[in-house]
Amino acid sequence: MDSVSYCFPEQPASLAAAGPLLGESAAMQTVFRLIDKIGPTEASVLLTGESGSGKELAAQSIHYCSPRRGAPFIAINCGAIPAGLLEAELFGCEMGGLSGADRAHAGVFERAQGGTLLLDEVTEMPLDLQGRLLRALETQKFYRVGATVEHGCDVRVIASTNRRPLQAVQSGRLREDLLYRLAVFPLDMPPLRSRGDDVELLAEHFLAELNAQRRTQKRLSAQARVMLKQHAWPGNVRELKNCIERAFILGDTVLELEPLVPAVRARDSEPADDRERLNIRVGSRIHDMERSLIEATLDYFKGNKRRAADALGCSLKTLYNKLNGYSQNQECANS
Ligand SMILES: Nc1ncnc2c1ncn2[C@@H]1O[C@H](COP(=O)(O)OP(=O)(O)OP(=O)(O)O)[C@@H](O)[C@H]1O
Ligand SMILES: [Mg+2]
Repeated sequence: MDSVSYCFPEQPASLAAAGPLLGESAAMQTVFRLIDKIGPTEASVLLTGESGSGKELAAQSIHYCSPRRGAPFIAINCGAIPAGLLEAELFGCEMGGLSGADRAHAGVFERAQGGTLLLDEVTEMPLDLQGRLLRALETQKFYRVGATVEHGCDVRVIASTNRRPLQAVQSGRLREDLLYRLAVFPLDMPPLRSRGDDVELLAEHFLAELNAQRRTQKRLSAQARVMLKQHAWPGNVRELKNCIERAFILGDTVLELEPLVPAVRARDSEPADDRERLNIRVGSRIHDMERSLIEATLDYFKGNKRRAADALGCSLKTLYNKLNGYSQNQECANS
């Protein structure tokens, strides 16, 4: 759980852009514009986006763009707390309310009073607790575990998840009514690979922080700058930050960057691929799928069966057998 504070300038054009989230790309300008609008309201926000894309930092920005900025910002990771303890972490517990609880304690809803509560990985919360959360959001009241008297709460809730919310509903991880209550404002954090030159801007920022802390003047090599552009950053800003830190520790003055997953290349820089993609509907028969793939591969290799068999990973004989089977089926169907 985190409690943080940032110093915002007096009246910047965009309060969100002056906060902890850095970025100049069009994708981040859209995020800043939304946070500037959402921040001052009381609306719940559902933050989505890939891991490490800055959802928690976005939640902090929303808090600091709101009139609640003088009160606490508290983040709780619902996926990291054992299910049996989560209710007491959220709503608090009276003495004896949980086996082994030898004293009463306040939960995050009480500790964030007047401020903002980030429920991280909300889809990992047990469903029965999701029901109690929904009730707390709607009535602004809750019971500590083991209590008979309700507490009132004045907390703005922001939730975040790496999952797709509608899929989480469909797979039974997230209550639909809770989704609609949380997602008054949905805000999707763009992946780092779609933020253009922000990658270099962030890399320089993290490096400058390290240089300032250690009183050094390390810089990135030309090769490292190329790699910044080429890597796809599947772990987003967190991966970039860790990559810079690793290079900083290992390098002397001019730093090389070693991505953790070197094979991953930026999607934009992949060579153009003119191969047709097959659209396969869930529920298709394996036989039909296989036939479509074989026919499309043969088309691509202009009927060259040897090359098609190589690409499909089967022997030439198997390919002939399959094709004969298809033409026999066709003849039966025609007769
Ligand atoms: N735009 C940004 N500017 C500066 N730092 C950033 C930015 N986005 C993310 N970071 C940094 O990257 C790290 C990961 O960010 P954060 O924890 O907010 O991501 P997240 O989306 O909540 O990740 P997870 O899905 O794993 O919970 C943090 O150290 C954060 O400070
Ligand atoms: Mg997070």
